[in-house]
Amino acid sequence: MSQTTKRSANEARSLAQAISQVILWGFNKHYRLFRETSALAKDRFERADWHGVQQAASDRIRFYDLRVSETVERIENEFSSSLGDEDVWQRVKFEYVDLLLDHMQPECAESFFNSVVCKLVKREYYHNDFIFVRPTISTEYLDAEPPSYKSYYPLDFRAEGESPATGLRHVFRELITDLDFAVPFANLDYDLDCIERALAEVLPDNFRPLPNHQVQVLRSPFFRNKACYLIGKVINGFREQPFALAIRHERRDSLTVDALLLERDHILTLFSFARSYFFVEMEVPAAYVRFLRQIMPNKPKAELYSMVGLQKFGKTLFYRDFLDHLRHSTDQFQIAPGIRGLVMLVFCLPSFPYVFKVIKDKIASTKDTSRALVREKFQLVKQHDRLGRMADTLEYSDVAFPRERFAQELLDELQELAPSMLQVNDDTVVLRHCYIERYMRPLNMHMQQADDTELSRALIEYGNAIKELAAANIFPGDMLYKNFGVSRQGRIVFYDYDEIEYMTTMNFRRIPTPRNEEDEMSGEVWYTVGKYDVFPEEFKPFLLGNPKVRDVLLAHHGDLFTAEFWQGLKDRIGKGHIESVFPYPAALRFINRFPPAGDEAWAVLRAAENDAAASATATAPIALVSAPLTARSSIVGLSSV
Ligand SMILES: Nc1ncnc2c1ncn2[C@@H]1O[C@H](COP(=O)(O)OP(=O)(O)OP(=O)(O)O)[C@@H](O)[C@H]1O
Ligand SMILES: [Mg+2]
Repeated sequence: MSQTTKRSANEARSLAQAISQVILWGFNKHYRLFRETSALAKDRFERADWHGVQQAASDRIRFYDLRVSETVERIENEFSSSLGDEDVWQRVKFEYVDLLLDHMQPECAESFFNSVVCKLVKREYYHNDFIFVRPTISTEYLDAEPPSYKSYYPLDFRAEGESPATGLRHVFRELITDLDFAVPFANLDYDLDCIERALAEVLPDNFRPLPNHQVQVLRSPFFRNKACYLIGKVINGFREQPFALAIRHERRDSLTVDALLLERDHILTLFSFARSYFFVEMEVPAAYVRFLRQIMPNKPKAELYSMVGLQKFGKTLFYRDFLDHLRHSTDQFQIAPGIRGLVMLVFCLPSFPYVFKVIKDKIASTKDTSRALVREKFQLVKQHDRLGRMADTLEYSDVAFPRERFAQELLDELQELAPSMLQVNDDTVVLRHCYIERYMRPLNMHMQQADDTELSRALIEYGNAIKELAAANIFPGDMLYKNFGVSRQGRIVFYDYDEIEYMTTMNFRRIPTPRNEEDEMSGEVWYTVGKYDVFPEEFKPFLLGNPKVRDVLLAHHGDLFTAEFWQGLKDRIGKGHIESVFPYPAALRFINRFPPAGDEAWAVLRAAENDAAASATATAPIALVSAPLTARSSIVGLSSV
């Protein structure tokens, strides 16, 4: 790096201070906007503004990059003569650390700093001294005032002689009331009955409250789609029972508590990589993540940060974890098992449950796409509700891997198919651009090894996945089995995004009846076909070749092969309908688990609830089918990822 002007130490220091202040200005603005949109989530929920929810989720994804660009631009304009001054850059980081001493989001601010500095200082020049390779400010005991979670003591609420579960009932009433929703609950007493009964099922028979018996709840609820979740745990002695309380606003004028999730697997499902990020109003995200980790100790911090909406910091943490994993493993990167892609070159590290995807330079001519278009599709998925059916991806530029960990076959293939993305140095292989996503067993491989029950289950789930995607305005395009993966919980998730379109863009047609004998005999397509025309009857030869597969799919999802089904869904979306997504098994919903008894008032409530539920999932046009249970699915429930 050439030093354009020789500055005194004092000058360099004051320039470094000024630059670090601009970077922090950029971060603080980012976090302020992030908090504002999170705080508005409650209002959107109360107004049942589901289109607003989708828009806000999509907008929020762009916030970070916008703020980074804005900050870079300011520094380029205001400090143009110092950009090449190594003395100044050496100091910027130290000055920045000074500014962060009392900051409430120092870990995120450090990662923002890295994003800005890496854009300003060319890769060849910056060294790790300039950026935060590891966090410098501890977030260990950092918390807000009032603290991020609130404790309620059931013994304070319990009247003489009442059962322990009744004390908990009072606490749950209190913590729901504390949310201070502007919309009333349809029948809070029924909801509390259900909560009390659900809790009683998990409390040991000889439950005796100890002096530390308390319920801790994160102060901000977690909002996503049409639901709001309260996340907490019930503590007694050394025992901790985590929970997520799902509150829904299906009807315009009232709220209901829909379920109380008490199994860790069900709570993990809420936070799955195939779901969208929550809106959570947090002053100290580190404190929220700390609490969540107590509930889900095996979930990487990186994923938890992403799930509370701080996906860029999640990405930084993921990369640190990845480097750490490399230090603790010796296996080699290799081409991912399964059928190779025409668009993407996919490789994996067997000891690490993720895949790395690079867009090829030469894309097969049968695919009418380009690198820019493929990137747009990935961005579309990032900003869209992923519904538990599309894997999240982390996008990286200029990622360096240790060269000795690359199998030669993979290096050759990268060299041949994506040379412009590859830079091979003495010790490193640098990929100019790649996506990283969770490894899942490709469905085509799963089907080859599955027994009949597993095959049926997978195919039924496959059909459900397509229907849920379609109902949420995603036409997957290439629906071959190789483009879906099976998650650890047996759920089918889509991962091939290059042919995705909005349903509303497509035109679903029946194959026209031949006009005459000549048409009938013609080997050519005799009718005109538009760019976005799709003929669902044509899916059959691709999907139904195997007789067993054919029987199951036609029996359960025969409608997928009709234009009417797809067009019906498209019309429904066109009318503004937004489906309800329930990221937990239907059997856990209170209306199914503890059906209300039948006096007249209840009957009305029940009818209303059933209406809402029916319009949400169970009736045409998306009739989802329950898959037969396997040992695994019976543990975690059918709708979990
Ligand atoms: N998340 C994943 N987990 C495991 N394997 C994966 C994953 N994503 C992709 N693969 C493997 O890599 C192959 C190619 O990936 P993908 O389908 O994304 O690429 P593509 O080039 O878009 O494919 P196509 O040629 O079908 O368009 C898949 O067939 C599968 O075997
Ligand atoms: Mg594919």
